[in-house]
Formats: sequence, C-alpha cells, structure tokens
Amino acid sequence: MTALSADAALTDAEILRIRADFPILRSEVNGHPLVYLDSGATAQRPQQVLDVERDFLTTWNSAVHRGAHTLAAEATLAFEDARATVASFIGADEEELVWTSNATEAINLVAYSISNASAGRGGAAAECLRIGPGDEIVTTEMEHHANLIPWQELAARTGATLRVIPLDDDGALRLDEAPVTERTRIVAVTHASNVLGVVNPIAEIVAAARAVGALVLLDACQSAPHLPLDVKALDVDFAVLSGHKMLGPTGIGALYGRRELLEAMPPFLTGGSMITTVTTTEAEYLAPPQRFEAGTQRVSQAIALAAAVDYLNAVGMDRIAAHEAELGARLTEGLAAIAGVRVLGAGIDLPRLGLASIDIPGIHAHDIGQFLDDRGIAARVGHHCAQPLHRRLGVTASTRASTYLYSTADEVDAFLDGVRATIDFFGARA
Ligand SMILES: Cc1ncc(COP(=O)(O)O)c(C=O)c1O
Repeated sequence: MTALSADAALTDAEILRIRADFPILRSEVNGHPLVYLDSGATAQRPQQVLDVERDFLTTWNSAVHRGAHTLAAEATLAFEDARATVASFIGADEEELVWTSNATEAINLVAYSISNASAGRGGAAAECLRIGPGDEIVTTEMEHHANLIPWQELAARTGATLRVIPLDDDGALRLDEAPVTERTRIVAVTHASNVLGVVNPIAEIVAAARAVGALVLLDACQSAPHLPLDVKALDVDFAVLSGHKMLGPTGIGALYGRRELLEAMPPFLTGGSMITTVTTTEAEYLAPPQRFEAGTQRVSQAIALAAAVDYLNAVGMDRIAAHEAELGARLTEGLAAIAGVRVLGAGIDLPRLGLASIDIPGIHAHDIGQFLDDRGIAARVGHHCAQPLHRRLGVTASTRASTYLYSTADEVDAFLDGVRATIDFFGARA
C-alpha cells in the first residue's frame, strides 16, 4: 500500500492535547466514554472554532457587503479574510473560492451553471461551457450521490449522455475502460471514497480529461479534511468541500473554480448581492465570486471554517495524514483478520484514509451499529449515500468507521473488539 505521507504521525501526547480541545470527546454515551468513529459523516469541532463563531456573533454579527455601519464593515473584512484563509488552504486564490452551504450545493452550482449556459445564458463568454446531445459527462460508480445525481439531472436537462467509470470486483475504478472520449466535456470524480477510504489516482484521470479538453470537477469532501490538498498542483478545474467535515460548522462549504471558468459561468442562484445594475426586466451580474453568492451570506459559519483551517494548519496536514494512515492501516488490517468480516475494497492497492467499511454476511449493518452504540461507539451504517457502489459490491449496506486527527489507536481497537463481540453475539462467525 502506498503511504500517504512520509511525515511523522502525531505522538500520543499530541493527540491527548488535541482531544482536550474537543468538548464533545469528554462525553459518555450509554454509560461508556464516547468513541467517535463517524468523522467521515461530520467531524467534531474544537473549542477554538466554537469560540470564534460565538465571539463573532456576540461582537460583530452583521450582514456583509451591504451596510455602511462599523459592524457591517468589520463583518465584511472578517468574511473576506476567511475566504482568503480557506482558499490558501487548498492552494487557490481568494477570487476563485465561492462560499456555498455545503459540497452538494457547490456541485449543483456547477451543474446548473453549465445547463444555464447550455440554454443560452452567459453570452459568448459561456460558449466554452455549453453542452448538448452528443456530448458526454463522465462520473464514476463510486461517487457519493451528491456527485452523481446533479450530473444525471444535467444530462436530462441538456440531452448530453452520462457515462460512468465502472468499478472492478474489489471496488477500484476501471480506468482501463477508457470512458473519457473525444466527446467528454466534464469529468466529475471523488478524490477519496467515502466508503472504501481509497485515494483515487487523480493525476491519471486529469491527464485523460486534459487530452480531450474536458473539464475536471474534484469532490474533495473526504480529502480536504485529511490530506494536504493543492488544487493547482492537481490541475483540476473545480473542487468542492464541506466545512462540517473539516472541524467547521454545518451550513458552509466551498467551490473552487479556475478563474477563467468562474468568469465565464452564468449564475446558478440569482437575487440580492450578486448584481451591479437591475431594472425590472434584466440584471447585470458582479464578477466572481460574488456572482455566485446570492442572498444573505453565512457569515459566522465562514469565519468559523477559517478558524477550523487555522487549527488544521497549526497541527499540520502532513502530520494529520500520517496519523490517519497509521489508524487506517490498524483498522483495515485488524478488520481483515476477523473471520466473517469482509472489508469493502480491501484488495485495492491505493493510499488509504483512516476509514473502512465492512459487511458481515448474516448480520444487518443496523444491528451492528446498534450493538456498537450500546458500547458508546459511534459508527455509520447504511449505504453512505453511495448506492451504486454498494450494489456493485453485492451488498445493500455496510458499517463504516472513520477517524480524524483526534482519533486514537485505542478507539480503533475498541471498534475491532466491538465487531468481534457483535459476531459472537449474533453467532455469525464464518
Ligand atoms: C465524498 C462525499 N461527497 C459529497 C458529500 C456531500 O457532502 P454534504 O452533504 O456536506 O454536501 C459527502 C458527504 O458525506 C461525501 O462524503
């Protein structure tokens, strides 16, 4: 297995210090200390992030880019500073970072902007975005529904064809199927799978897209929180992330878009704060990123997300990646050694996050989840918004453990013990 990072993993003392920053990690669930292994769904927030959001709300709370009063000016400065912080975290310029409510909205923004362009909006500048019958949109069988359904809908609206990179029996992308062709206009792919924990070979996918002049949208929901990410080095056109998966609040996400593309794109949502001039019959739009930020913005959430990014930077993304690679190996190897457990994607030779999903034939994932919960262990059960992937691997649901910078080897071991106890309890040992 390729290592994600050559950097030193976090020491036990550092992890203890980090854990002390997260109030929720001191809680008990069902009489046991909480073992939180659901960071892939949403991460916990450190006191520093909670404090920044509360301090903003109690000091400067105000709508941005509108008022002439001091609170509005201070709020606007903080909001734009937050944009610069988050943009720099992923290697982007601040004008290239659009605030959204989450990654789902960011992907829909791109898909709707392309269909608006395809319907003739955006003038000559938007020509490069227009798609229609004969054109192809490519995504993969392993995507979260958030990076699949918007493309299904875009295909339905424009008459373009949706093609899907299939998975092999292990769950790896079949890039040898050559799904990217001269007709491909956009390739939308996840950087890291939220079910298998593998980090996809993005350079190879970008090279295939570039060779035919197609755009690439990277779903960085599961990578931005866990790995150093540089959208320019990866040479993608768009990237999306969700704040709540990277120590920030819910209700805030971001779209990175290459400057020339954002400038060419017609808006998705329209309304206040994204215009220069409005008459009763038409409107002129602001330059990006404001063109894509209609309506009153999520100011405290954006500022708190920047505080989360400061926290991650202070720990060091390389070291977080190294820590999670260690936990991921302990998790995957520990699970693979338990008779009766199938680790989804275990045979894939790619770098991995600290995340693994299992199927235990004969025991429903919901029973496993409930059994673990009785021990204070929070794991995720279900299809994790990736039904096509589960269908391909022949299961309807799985049980997922996902770690973060505050997770410990003891917590991974508690999960492994819990899985063994579940099998003993339900008598499903193979
Ligand atoms: C890989 C991936 N993409 C997209 C999403 C959607 O994120 P959100 O629901 O925050 O928009 C998720 C959330 O689980 C995810 O894991």
